[in-house]
Amino acid sequence: MDRRRFADWSLKVGIGAAIASAIPGVLTLRGKARSAATKAVEPGDRLVFALGQNAGQPVTRGGFSQNEAVLAYPEGKSDNHENLVLVAKLDPAELGPPLDMTGTAEGVVAYSAICTHLGCTVRFSEEPMDAAPFPHIHCPCHSALFDPRHGGVVMGGPAPRPLPQLPVRLNDKGEVVVSGPFTSPVGVKA
Ligand code: FES
Repeated sequence: MDRRRFADWSLKVGIGAAIASAIPGVLTLRGKARSAATKAVEPGDRLVFALGQNAGQPVTRGGFSQNEAVLAYPEGKSDNHENLVLVAKLDPAELGPPLDMTGTAEGVVAYSAICTHLGCTVRFSEEPMDAAPFPHIHCPCHSALFDPRHGGVVMGGPAPRPLPQLPVRLNDKGEVVVSGPFTSPVGVKA
């Protein structure tokens, strides 16, 4: 093999090796994309505590008091941040439109915990604020306010749209279970 043909051959082998070495990475990325897709919240998922000493344990209606809320994930899907939800237990008599009442369970309601303004994690109020009556959901970043009794509608601040509701039901153990998809796109999406 003369020097020029050897150089061509070396170049082809080098390119082939580079492509071959890249393939596992490509497959890994495709695998990750697929696993991320399968981590979306689905009807039937149990909600589990996201934080605290009960992290990973099922959220039950009896596990927290009326006018309290907890952060939760669908079980086994905490690596998808868009799955983070705020589960509140409210007075059923105070719930009303545009809340999807079929997606509530004895006063238990769930909303995406991702602010629709710029994506911060929202919080449930623990005390009244001048701008909003208790209970309300607020965002610590730019002070958006949402009404958990009425479909998460915006009561104040820069959020452009309500928090998406996640329909829920209770199973025979009183655990909070997802019963449908989010009512609108999660987070900073039109
Ligand atoms: S990110 Fe929530 S108000 Fe701006």
